[in-house]
Amino acid sequence: MVASRRGSGSITLPTGQTMAIHTRTHEEEDLPHATKKTMADHLRKYESLFTLTPQRMRMIVEAFKDSLELGLQKPKQVVPMIPTFVFGWPTGKESGDFLALDLGGTNLRVCLVTLQGEGKFEMTQTKYRLTEEQKQDEGQKLFDFCAECLKTFIDTNFTDEDGNSLLKPGELLPLGFTFSYPCYQSRIDHGELIRWTKGFGAKNTEGRDVAEMFRQSIEKYKIPVVMTAIINDTTGTLIASHYVNPKTKIAVIFGTGCNAAYMEDVSNIEKINELGINKQDQMAINCEWGAFDSFEHEHLPRTKYDIIVDETSNKPGEQAFEKLISGRYLGEILRLVICELIDEGVLFLGQETYKLETPYVFETAFLSLMESDPTDELLMIIGIFTHFFAVETTLAERQFFRALAMLIGRRAARLSACGIAAIVGKMGYLDEGCLVGADGSLYNKYPGFADRVHEGLVDIFGEKGRNIKTVHAEDGSGVGSAIIAAMTKARRDAGLYPHV
Ligand code: BGC
Repeated sequence: MVASRRGSGSITLPTGQTMAIHTRTHEEEDLPHATKKTMADHLRKYESLFTLTPQRMRMIVEAFKDSLELGLQKPKQVVPMIPTFVFGWPTGKESGDFLALDLGGTNLRVCLVTLQGEGKFEMTQTKYRLTEEQKQDEGQKLFDFCAECLKTFIDTNFTDEDGNSLLKPGELLPLGFTFSYPCYQSRIDHGELIRWTKGFGAKNTEGRDVAEMFRQSIEKYKIPVVMTAIINDTTGTLIASHYVNPKTKIAVIFGTGCNAAYMEDVSNIEKINELGINKQDQMAINCEWGAFDSFEHEHLPRTKYDIIVDETSNKPGEQAFEKLISGRYLGEILRLVICELIDEGVLFLGQETYKLETPYVFETAFLSLMESDPTDELLMIIGIFTHFFAVETTLAERQFFRALAMLIGRRAARLSACGIAAIVGKMGYLDEGCLVGADGSLYNKYPGFADRVHEGLVDIFGEKGRNIKTVHAEDGSGVGSAIIAAMTKARRDAGLYPHV
């Protein structure tokens, strides 16, 4: 006998899709569901796999600090600690109009930022969703697409009502290119792609200067811009957050990918000693900490699900830290646990489960929704499983799924706290305290993520951990990029080139 419907409604998901919800009574079902006790037993097993003790966290922090130091001393280390050629903090007085092109993990954005000085700004932007094909096709084609979008944006925003250009003949608009993938930089307007991350795999791009590739596309479409800087989203976030709140010392992104930046004394960046940069200067470092513990896998507590995520990814061995934390992977980790329980005959016996068997179908947004379901019956979770995967669930199973999401989300937040603690410890920021500008879909949308990071910092440092606070950052990839373009222009005007 099929369960009777008790009511229905619909919910709009963050993705814009509408999901129908039907509530059912399960007492009457004839499907062979797992008992409450079985689910509780399984949960205990996963609790021990995904829980990080304070002691383990402190060990991770120590290893993390060593990796950060090594990256500053020698080139080409696992955590590359990339000198960005962004010198010191903004004054807050930077002003003018700047374009920013932001190639992120999911979208391409073109922004026009007007910096008004005194930490204020205005912004106009257009967003384009990147397709999977674009992420895997020829790299030059991807940059051509960026250039086309940029051209459309300039044509729309820099023409009068009659369609005449508002630019003076020969005028070139300054452009910051926010390219959020690991790149070695030898100047601020140069960036050799070390490796693609976040599932990108565009061909003939790794090992090449992406600034030069993008310049070719700009020339091809005859766009009136001059690319002044290539910027990582974390560096942009660091500078933008400091522009509005000078207590910011560190920036982190927890989105499709995960990374951090902070300001370092040039005298501590041993590997660029020979460049002869003034030892009194400071320079932002793009840590690329998503790579922590890659290849050797000595420090992070990886479960068998994490190992499957890694080995079936387009980049096995790489981005070990990121794969335990970022939004691209959390849903997949949960899906793999569910699939294991399906294979063991614990879940969904007698039901068609093929929809759950495709990699990456279980989005991290579902974990957010499951954790924030306010209803006793967990109606949101019913909706997710019936609407997207066509399977029926009991309340005990739904409670299990929610608890599992919590374990995976909490582990991600506590590992993030380890990364932040490593920078704080290395730089000696604990006593005086500091703000950490944070951005990204996980940080902004996952319920309780920030609280769990803060809780993790207290587990690592004790009460003093409360001196370190993450705050929602200003848009680093747009506003930060503009401020960096303005800072770079000021340095060039002051004759400080080539060290920009
Ligand atoms: C990239 C970083 C980036 C981070 C957040 C990582 O995958 O390697 O460059 O900052 O994602 O977008």
